[in-house]
Amino acid sequence: MTSEELIKIAFAARKYAYAPYSHFKVGAALLTKSNRVYTGCNIENASFPVGLCAERVAISKAISEGDKELLKIAIVGGNENIEEPKDYCTPCGICRQTMAEFCDNNFEIILFDNGEPRIFSLDQMLPHSFNKDDLKK
Ligand code: THU
Repeated sequence: MTSEELIKIAFAARKYAYAPYSHFKVGAALLTKSNRVYTGCNIENASFPVGLCAERVAISKAISEGDKELLKIAIVGGNENIEEPKDYCTPCGICRQTMAEFCDNNFEIILFDNGEPRIFSLDQMLPHSFNKDDLKK
């Protein structure tokens, strides 16, 4: 599956975003080694901290179905008034930490840079991360 195809799916997922407070809608599409795609959108809540990010929704869907080999994720987001935002929506810190739990450095984080897919590694996104290896020390 190409980055462009995955971005397209992320845009479709974004349509389901529930963001009545921030008005910022995000969509994510996660590809696993089993060639399945899990989608996610942000889901906000009147009690703000309860809200979920699109990336963690997609990752949780995969993990909760036993599909643990994550290959790449496409993320798109922007104000609800913009139908297809073409600039970066970078994953928040909590989502990066979630990726660090389940992904190695071959995992591709696909963002949109001026309408073009741009791929980042987890090391680029979250250098010097605290992760499960640290607990073994
Ligand atoms: N959000 C995501 O879903 N993913 C990101 O990568 C950045 C932020 C959501 C959280 C909240 O619902 C809204 O965007 C504004 O922060």
